[in-house]
Amino acid sequence: MKVEQLTACIGAEVSGVNLGDVSRDDGLFAEMRALLLKHRVLFLRDQDITRAEHVAFARRFGDLEDHPVAGSDPDHPGLVQVYRSEEKNPYENNWHTDGLWRPNPPMGAVLRCIECPPVGGDTIWVNMVQAYAMLPEDVKKKIANLRAISSIEHSFGSVMDVQARQKLGRENPPVEHPVVRTHPETGEKILYVGSFTTHFVNFHTPENVRYGIDKNPGAGQLLQYLHSQATIPEYQVRFRWRPNSVAIWDNRATHHYAVMDYWPQPRKMERAGIVGDVPY
Ligand code: SIN
Repeated sequence: MKVEQLTACIGAEVSGVNLGDVSRDDGLFAEMRALLLKHRVLFLRDQDITRAEHVAFARRFGDLEDHPVAGSDPDHPGLVQVYRSEEKNPYENNWHTDGLWRPNPPMGAVLRCIECPPVGGDTIWVNMVQAYAMLPEDVKKKIANLRAISSIEHSFGSVMDVQARQKLGRENPPVEHPVVRTHPETGEKILYVGSFTTHFVNFHTPENVRYGIDKNPGAGQLLQYLHSQATIPEYQVRFRWRPNSVAIWDNRATHHYAVMDYWPQPRKMERAGIVGDVPY
């Protein structure tokens, strides 16, 4: 296995290994898991693997989850089809960690490219451990005990009709997470708000709010500022896809952004999202 670090902060390309083999080999899998914790996102080229191998590799990390809006491969539950085609205007361009609207968002994901445009449709990942570490100390102090609400209804749901959106919201009610979470394996602190985050729930205290006027835009501006940290290039890596390229990411420690510059050309990706734990 050869490993080439891609930026000073995040991402490595791994070559000389096939993920089908890794799915059947304890030693190779342990190596891959350690690399993921170190680099946060791993990229592999020319992974001509079957869907069963894709799923088997991802399952080594834990159970897989389907998505309430995007469909899964009918023969491989847990393999979500992120398919964009001419008829379907892609909506992906926002900074997010997958499933932040779940009580236990995924710990990671394995994404394989089936089809992509010759140019365009890259994905960018950002190291949110670094984003937290580089925050000014007064901001760290301010957000230490803050908690925020995330919801699928206001994101995926907003393009649905009222009944469908409300049903989605009832079936997936808003969840509360810490604004700074702790990585359950490394103990690192992670900035943990993204595009699914709607608002803080405990900002309205005497330290932050003298009069009601302080709450808005105070809380909104702080949330916007935290969210914008993901856009800092020094924390990022950008990956250009080819069919059979694979990205494996630690969803707890990263955010990502699928660049929407290719429509109406088709782009087809298949994602195995791995069930995570409740953030603390
Ligand atoms: C995702 O948001 O999980 C998919 C990213 C991509 O399609 O590049």
